[in-house]
Amino acid sequence: MPQGTYHFPKGFLWGTATASHQVEGGNTNNNWHAWEEAGHTVHKSGLAADWWNGRWREDFDRAAETGQNAHRLSIEWSRVQPTPDKWDEEAIEKYRLMLRGLRERNMTALVTLHHFTEPLWVTERGAWETEAIVPLFEKYVRKMVDALKEYTNLWVTINEPNVYALSGYAVGAFPPGKKDLKSAMQVLANMLRGHAAAYRAIHELQPESRVGYALHFRPMVPRTGWNPLDRLMRNIRYEGVNMGFPTGISTGVMKTPLGNFNIPEAKGTQDYLGLNYYSVDTVWFDLAKAGEMFSNSGYPKNADMSDTNFLANIPEGIYDSVKWIVRTYPNLPIIITENGVEDYDDHMRPRYLAQHLHQVWRTVNFNWPVKGYFHWSLVDNFEWERGWTQRFGLWGLDVDTQKRIRRPSVDFYAEICKENGISSEMVQKYCPEVFEKLFPS
Ligand code: BGC
Repeated sequence: MPQGTYHFPKGFLWGTATASHQVEGGNTNNNWHAWEEAGHTVHKSGLAADWWNGRWREDFDRAAETGQNAHRLSIEWSRVQPTPDKWDEEAIEKYRLMLRGLRERNMTALVTLHHFTEPLWVTERGAWETEAIVPLFEKYVRKMVDALKEYTNLWVTINEPNVYALSGYAVGAFPPGKKDLKSAMQVLANMLRGHAAAYRAIHELQPESRVGYALHFRPMVPRTGWNPLDRLMRNIRYEGVNMGFPTGISTGVMKTPLGNFNIPEAKGTQDYLGLNYYSVDTVWFDLAKAGEMFSNSGYPKNADMSDTNFLANIPEGIYDSVKWIVRTYPNLPIIITENGVEDYDDHMRPRYLAQHLHQVWRTVNFNWPVKGYFHWSLVDNFEWERGWTQRFGLWGLDVDTQKRIRRPSVDFYAEICKENGISSEMVQKYCPEVFEKLFPS
């Protein structure tokens, strides 16, 4: 049986990613709380993983003790600026404490400034539907960077602007539940303006900062390769889902299937690209999907499907995504800011992890500049409209008792982080079913 280890470059960041509303609990002043109260989610976030009451400490301990050297978390805008003219200094101090907590555990902090939520007063003003949000966002960003720059210089301005815009304004699953592609593209354009303003503000306050955003990148294939309509739909959908921010940042003109937006100030506003990769979509023409420009998507037949059929395990997609980034932006550092799978029983996660990391290894083996990997997520957290039905944590969470449950993936990931690589022994131990794929004889 072949033996060996796929090693990663020295200094590689190994961590997990979380987001404020999904772990903190008690966030009652943002758009998602209102959405939950209006009955649009399977469950409510409630205490979530109870970080706001201090359980971040024990979870950071878990992360550090299991070899992670980095963590990605987000700041809850509605906590630090509950009303337009009020900063909550106590809340800000809590975030300083959390970042200090990471430093004390020798962990690098990657801080996200917007992860799907904003204060209700921002929602009432139309949130990202109007350009008026840009100076508001910039003001909040300046305040936070000033407060936190002692502890980090690695920032994500906005998490998955494409998912925020499309889920909230085209699909209707996220607040405010609109189904209007045109306003989704308007929202995306304003997010790009906000990102650009934040990028410049952060650099002004902290010249040594490294600023990017987290792109949910979705590779896509037509369901039937020879069908011109499927191919056309694949291309339209691909542009609509993936290309807004990347084109805007490359050229200052954001391309969308509904037209172009001139945003010259966005050109060049990234020091690295954050990649959130989960799966690959199969796309086809569907007359019933007028609202999505007649395109529909799903997964290939016979795919290795996750617990709740939310994701197909298609590890080559992470390699293809990195390859696309390298081709689009040669030499730009890349951080995998999210990758993971919902899996209550942990029957798929070990192989999902092993197979995806093997593909990431292929990219670093070409000296492509991938600098770190953040698994989604550290502990089960509130999965937005899907509530608690999906479990993405390395650690499980009993929502009623707040008890953490150690899934086998905890130990697998710990071995990977500590080794800075993935070995044949580990694969044999945690997911022998893919041994032959990763270490062919
Ligand atoms: C989001 C996370 C979410 C994860 C899994 C990503 O799109 O950034 O907030 O929990 O997917 O659904």
